[in-house]
Amino acid sequence: MLIRGSGVTPPLFLWFKFHFQCCLEFMQRRFFFQLLLICIGLALLFSGLFLNLDTATAQTMPTPDRLAQPTLPAEPSQADKGAQVYWLSCLPCHGDSGQGLTDEFKQTYPEEDRNCWKSGCHGNNPYERGFTIPKVIPAIIGPGALQKFPDALGLRAYVFAAMPFWKPGSLTDEEAWQVTAFLLRENNLRTSRDDLNESNAALISVGTPPTPLPTPLSAPPTGEKSSLALLILVGVVALAPPFIFLWVFRKK
Ligand code: HEC
Repeated sequence: MLIRGSGVTPPLFLWFKFHFQCCLEFMQRRFFFQLLLICIGLALLFSGLFLNLDTATAQTMPTPDRLAQPTLPAEPSQADKGAQVYWLSCLPCHGDSGQGLTDEFKQTYPEEDRNCWKSGCHGNNPYERGFTIPKVIPAIIGPGALQKFPDALGLRAYVFAAMPFWKPGSLTDEEAWQVTAFLLRENNLRTSRDDLNESNAALISVGTPPTPLPTPLSAPPTGEKSSLALLILVGVVALAPPFIFLWVFRKK
């Protein structure tokens, strides 16, 4: 209930006034002032170090051009040549890192080309000599990709017969091997620099079902939670000494 005109000061205000007065008293003492400055300095340093390290590095890193043609090394392997084939014939649909045609990747397209499935583009009524594409263009690099292909021979046969989607059969025999070798390398399925061919491809398994991960007993703390805890810790560490000092002095 609010007591009007009774002269009762709200307790919160009293508390604040009391602390302010005490603080002023102590501010005059050099030792306390130095201690406070050191604590604030340390708190700022630690919070800056821990909380802003990631953002700082992210801001200073230059963004490489995602769509740039990959450079061909002096002695290119089959997979290196495959990277060129990928860039030329597969990247526009399957993404710069094989992620598939995700919403995020579509942002690299000019604004008017981002809605691939509208009428007149690659939708139901494609432009003259155009083509319709399925709503989902799958990822072909990354965890869970290429699961339907038991081995590299099958993968290569599919790519040769069915890709690029808009002009199947347009890859040369060699290009199909090269781009398959590239896909194997990018999916960490093969490290050898030897050429992939009809005799070794069947021995390289591709779509091995992923082994289920054991369920952790308790969920690990999220980044958000731990940085909040850190902030509280820094606050407590910074504020504790002056308050302890205040308390000790009052006892005397
Ligand atoms: C015009 C867009 C387009 C281009 C260009 C294209 N693809 Fe595809 N790709 C697709 C679509 C759509 C599918 C899904 C087809 C389906 O499900 O029937 C697909 C499926 C695939 C698959 C099977 C993935 C899976 O798990 O089902 C592979 C492998 C593949 N593409 C490789 C390639 C390679 C290699 C190239 C370049 C030589 C290429 N694609 C170029 C659109 C494209």
